[in-house]
Amino acid sequence: QVFFKPITNAAPPSSTKRQTKISVIGAGNVGMAIAQTILTQDLTDELVLVDAKPDKLRGEMLDLQHAAAFLPRTKIHASVDYAVTAGSDLCIVTAGARQIADESRLNLLQRNVSMFKNIIPHLVRYSPDSTLLIVSNPVDILTYVAWKLSGFPSNRVIGSGTNLDSSRFRFLIADHLDVNAQDVQAYIVGEHGDSSVALWSSISVGGVPVLSFLENQQIVYEKETLESIHKAVIDSAYEVISLKGYTSWAIGYSVASLARSILRDQRKIHPVSVLAKGFYGIEDGEVFLSLPAQLGRGGVLGVTNVHLNDEESQRLRDSAKTILEVQTQLGI
Ligand code: NAI
Ligand code: LAC
Repeated sequence: QVFFKPITNAAPPSSTKRQTKISVIGAGNVGMAIAQTILTQDLTDELVLVDAKPDKLRGEMLDLQHAAAFLPRTKIHASVDYAVTAGSDLCIVTAGARQIADESRLNLLQRNVSMFKNIIPHLVRYSPDSTLLIVSNPVDILTYVAWKLSGFPSNRVIGSGTNLDSSRFRFLIADHLDVNAQDVQAYIVGEHGDSSVALWSSISVGGVPVLSFLENQQIVYEKETLESIHKAVIDSAYEVISLKGYTSWAIGYSVASLARSILRDQRKIHPVSVLAKGFYGIEDGEVFLSLPAQLGRGGVLGVTNVHLNDEESQRLRDSAKTILEVQTQLGI
């Protein structure tokens, strides 16, 4: 009581508010973009950073702590020892090798699987009731690997998936139509990668299906224009990586939006990587890929029954096949 003199002798109420804790594994470009966005958006009471490089880890922690005067009060810890993650509600995994220019995400698989075999068991040991949110690439297969290694129910193992691709898709459509991206409802599903699937039939702007919206606006719009926008989405990461060496800011906001939906029980629908077996005719093998899923405190609350036309369903099954062809080589 050095600084403050109480105005009453009544005991202060015990803090019954459930403290939230997020651990970010991997304090690199992506992990730190996620951490910074989580702090700015006041999404947690405690933020923990884990990495394999102790000096970088401590440097990042101190640098974030020094922003305390400008941020909501958040306890920030960091250690190479996973004990620091104990009791996490959400564990976000960004540790891993990243693509170099023109390298596909699938090329990263072996390096990152062996890393996951070390990381995931620690997270399970210290936070057995947490939700795992996988970001490292190839994110769909690594989400499957995290699910297998953790033994968690599939609703508590989620990949960031095409939440980022869908944001890129919404930006490009909004830019083309000169509207606000938040008024564009559009999903990319399937693999977070080269075989992703654009759901044309469900795109809407301000609640108006985009194709009839464009007719109403007398904008001549062909299918190939939509296809070129989807191709631009697929090329996005390669372009940014060739220019700045990695992508970080968009994934930072994307993952923070997922953390908010989960920890604040928003029951919001996001295209994220979930166990897709049994949906949309995907029957062969336990494959994780992105479908529009409702997220809340329990992780994946359900997969939405969004309408897919025959072409979209077939492309989704092809995307599942692409993932499974690589995944089965793992023997996990
Ligand atoms: P980075 O190289 O900047 O950071 C990776 C960090 O992981 C490094 O700090 C490294 O020390 C750490 N690390 C490596 N092994 C570790 C271990 N065993 N335990 C703990 N930490 C370990 O790479 P960046 O740019 O942050 O990318 C990280 C991953 O995120 C890559 O796989 C990248 O492809 C992926 N990514 C995924 C996106 C998505 O939409 N799913 C978007 C952008 C990147
Ligand atoms: C991206 C890659 C790095 O989409 O996964 O940004």
